[in-house]
Amino acid sequence: MKKSILKKQLDGLNNQNHSRFHMPGHKGRGEDFNIFNYDITEIPGADNLHDAQGIIAQVQQKLAAIYGSDEAAMLVNGTTTGIHSAILGACCPGDKLIIPTNCHRSVFGALALGRIEGVFITPEFDKLMGFAREITLASVKEAIIRYPDSIGMVLTNPTYYGTTSDVKAIAGFLHRQRKFLIVDEAHGAHLHFNDALPLDAMAAGADISIQSTHKILGSLTQSSLIHFQGSRINRQRVKSFLALLQSSSPSYPLMISVEEAVDSAYEKGSGVFKMIIDAHQNFCDKQGSNVPITLYADDASSTGYDRSKWLFHTQGIAGDQVEELLSKTHGIQCEMSGNNHVLAMTGMGTTAADINALILGIADLNKKIMSDGFSGKATVQDKHRTETVLFKDSIKTEMPLWQALYSNEKESIPLAEAVNRLAGDFIIPYPPGIPVLLPGSRISQKIIDGLNQLIDNSVAVVGIHENRELLLLKEEGARNEA
Ligand SMILES: Cc1ncc(COP(=O)(O)O)c(C=O)c1O
Repeated sequence: MKKSILKKQLDGLNNQNHSRFHMPGHKGRGEDFNIFNYDITEIPGADNLHDAQGIIAQVQQKLAAIYGSDEAAMLVNGTTTGIHSAILGACCPGDKLIIPTNCHRSVFGALALGRIEGVFITPEFDKLMGFAREITLASVKEAIIRYPDSIGMVLTNPTYYGTTSDVKAIAGFLHRQRKFLIVDEAHGAHLHFNDALPLDAMAAGADISIQSTHKILGSLTQSSLIHFQGSRINRQRVKSFLALLQSSSPSYPLMISVEEAVDSAYEKGSGVFKMIIDAHQNFCDKQGSNVPITLYADDASSTGYDRSKWLFHTQGIAGDQVEELLSKTHGIQCEMSGNNHVLAMTGMGTTAADINALILGIADLNKKIMSDGFSGKATVQDKHRTETVLFKDSIKTEMPLWQALYSNEKESIPLAEAVNRLAGDFIIPYPPGIPVLLPGSRISQKIIDGLNQLIDNSVAVVGIHENRELLLLKEEGARNEA
């Protein structure tokens, strides 16, 4: 048989990059198994994910015991569907839910699907990098004072960039108010396995957490886990939505990969992450302040930084250039980059040799940039600062989100002409997949400038199409006003 186009291309990429610092967490080093042998359907003895009573129930009980949750369920449509199901199962149409503006697109998607009203709160921002750090307890308290009828909250912890919030304090406060906490722990399935990492959501008292076991542990992409704790959220309703929204043909290879990834993390995770976080701490302790590429750690955070994330701040050289040079000259592929940063994500498959290669690669680039006359000052525009502006200003909707999403009255218009108009679709820079406009958000000139800047910097912005056109809601008199 002819080799598939996809395999050919991916083989080429794998040959070029020897150290993978991008998702998934197995880094191409998972335990091999014959996928076709285990790819079956719900024959007798194989159980059924949507009504688990046999081997799947047994595995899920084991996974819950490992993580210390009351109950766990494997997911075959990613954390995305876990988040959709958790929110839809916990809320009814018209309910109010506290939502930090740095939540992933799946959270906003659930609000639209469930006709749920978001009470939006703004995270603290890292002034140097421009992205979201923690959600303060004070901001949650303030939201509850403003909207006492909010029934709960969704919190992303840790973030894509490794920053964390005090989940324990937030959960405790919400519970005293008889409200629930759902934690999007997509980037935190590893936290449980090393005490030097920030506290995981179940240990912090969350009612539900959803983890992408594929991102940092070693399961196959698209496989995830949901955990339940306590009785504040109706578990049966969440499970009904899981059965409704996930495939009715759940993949056994995906489920096997979740079980094996968690087993492997249980056996070896503590050691793997010790190696990674010790090296991270060591790098931070030894690095000079006047070098172009420095390693970021949110040292001001009381709840700790997730040191599995090697996020570099770049000055005098764009992050995208550093990413390209690391790949071309050192065989290292990072997760993502922007003007002033490069993110190298580690995982269960990361070895000490990978970490050494990364450290040497960065040292080599620092030396080269310095010898080329590095001035010590940023010479490129800081894209992340733009994101700060976007996250703060744009997200509020002037009509119910679901109504704006379902509307048929939309037109495609160039971004430059969209000032004062209402967005007709989600506008989402990728990565990290956090929307800056929702259907029904009013578009300001500041947002247009910010989006243009992101696109000029080659950031993929979902919802902005060819010729920088986007969907807008048709409003009476809108064109005259604009
Ligand atoms: C913070 C956050 N939440 C949720 C998701 C969705 O996870 P999944 O890809 O497993 O559906 C992502 C994925 O990028 C994410 O970054």
